[in-house]
Amino acid sequence: MNREYKLLPEEQLNFALRALYEENGYSRYRMNKFEEYDLYAGHRDFLAADGVITFTDLSGKLMALKPDVTLSIVKNTRDREGVTERLYYNENVYRAARGGDTFREIPQMGLELLGKVGDRERLEVVLLALQTLQNIPVQGMLEISHLGILLDVLKSFRIPEEEQNRVIRLIGEKNRHELLALLSELSLPEEQQELFTGIISYRAPAKQAVSELPSLLYDLADPSHATEFGKLLAEIAEKGGGNTEVLVDFSVVDDIHYYDGVVFKGFLPGIPESVLSGGSYNALMQEMQRKSSAIGFALYVDLLTEYDVFGAAEQSPSQAPAMLNVALPKGRLGEQVYQAFAEAGFPCEELLSDSRKLVFENPEAGVRYFWVKPSDVAIYVERGAADVGVVGKDILLEYRPDVYELLDLGLGKCRICAAGKKDFTDDTRRSLRVATKFQRVASDYFRSIGRDIDIIHLNGSIEIAPILGLSDVIVDIVETGTTLRENDLVVQTEITPVSARLIANKAAYPFRSEQIGKLLSGLSDRHTEK
Ligand code: PRP
Repeated sequence: MNREYKLLPEEQLNFALRALYEENGYSRYRMNKFEEYDLYAGHRDFLAADGVITFTDLSGKLMALKPDVTLSIVKNTRDREGVTERLYYNENVYRAARGGDTFREIPQMGLELLGKVGDRERLEVVLLALQTLQNIPVQGMLEISHLGILLDVLKSFRIPEEEQNRVIRLIGEKNRHELLALLSELSLPEEQQELFTGIISYRAPAKQAVSELPSLLYDLADPSHATEFGKLLAEIAEKGGGNTEVLVDFSVVDDIHYYDGVVFKGFLPGIPESVLSGGSYNALMQEMQRKSSAIGFALYVDLLTEYDVFGAAEQSPSQAPAMLNVALPKGRLGEQVYQAFAEAGFPCEELLSDSRKLVFENPEAGVRYFWVKPSDVAIYVERGAADVGVVGKDILLEYRPDVYELLDLGLGKCRICAAGKKDFTDDTRRSLRVATKFQRVASDYFRSIGRDIDIIHLNGSIEIAPILGLSDVIVDIVETGTTLRENDLVVQTEITPVSARLIANKAAYPFRSEQIGKLLSGLSDRHTEK
């Protein structure tokens, strides 16, 4: 009996991509499930997630279930004069589940080009990344940037090496306010600070960027990377990304220890993180004693099924423009924030009504608000349940969510301090016992002053800990200082000032940039008027 089997959409995609890569001269790279653990231990930061499953083999060697394919390809191929290797893979990798302590088997497809990487090869790989996105039946977007250019800017403005990572991180967060503060701390002339502001807020289609790049990067000592990027963008604009828009955005950054040229990320509507990520990673090649250059990308196939991209593609798209989802911190700060948002053009009167409702919509203004616990705002935004939100810097420092930090609203100002009893003296012969809900902030601070500590994690009423002898000191929020005063405690050190920040989901931003731009400029105007 003949039975007909229909391929599932993800299987169809898999076949289509394999055909695409093979037609373009890429041959399939197959690898074992296992690899020596040393390979990953030496390049932990290159891996997209923490956590590698390890075991010892029969000869006692420490092995790992592969968390990544690129490192194995680099390790297992050789430099051969005049030979360009084109490889693609369709493999499962093994990674820790997000936020959990279990592991997941994740299907991944991708390709690597190793050898001499010139203009032609760069274009070839970026076009293949675009075609990869076009094979998915929803309209995506590719954001592209060039780390070589950013590094050139840092060098030509003599940004000290130890600060370069910080600057790149702030650019990657679109964190203009902290970048400007850092640049003035480094005494960078205002004119050069302006160039950074231009870079951090720059966002334009490839074609437009070709003509604007020279004036944006007017002051570069070595324009070779800018020329290379301009050429690539011109070719992309000419060949076209089909229905996939290509946008230049310098906040697409990656680890500068590995990547040093063009970098790009692909986004699909409804998926709260990038589905495709790639770039040229010559720095990694050098670190692994390779002479060749390399460029490649990976498609995170698991996200397509997790967020049911194929199901969404079958539904007819809604005509109504999507609403901007905003997570507000419940409480007094949230009310102040709402006023600011309403003045910026996103009113929703019902929100102020005396009810226990948590979700409010104003379809005319295109906005949906929800009240969430202040410390949860960052989770809603990072996971894409909210497009934007407002959260204290304390939470951002403690949990480091992967989000854009767009604006310091100047509201909810307070400080994170170390405090103790008035008569407290530090006995440096033993560890200092620190009670706090900000474990990371506390550890970072005491590490920076070389003091070893024993953290006692509490969830509230931290001030009681030294009074009852549970800890020597506390690290906590101080606003008016009343709580400390009334409990006979004093500030010993101010660790960092804190205020409310506007954050945005990195994958929602490409599809909501107009609404977020309107919100941002409304809020910034209000901020400067004050
Ligand atoms: C915060 C903080 C302090 C207090 C400081 O507590 O943890 O206890 O505010 O404010 P003050 O300097 O104006 O007195 P919160 O009210 O958030 O409650 P918590 O104890 O649960 O953290």
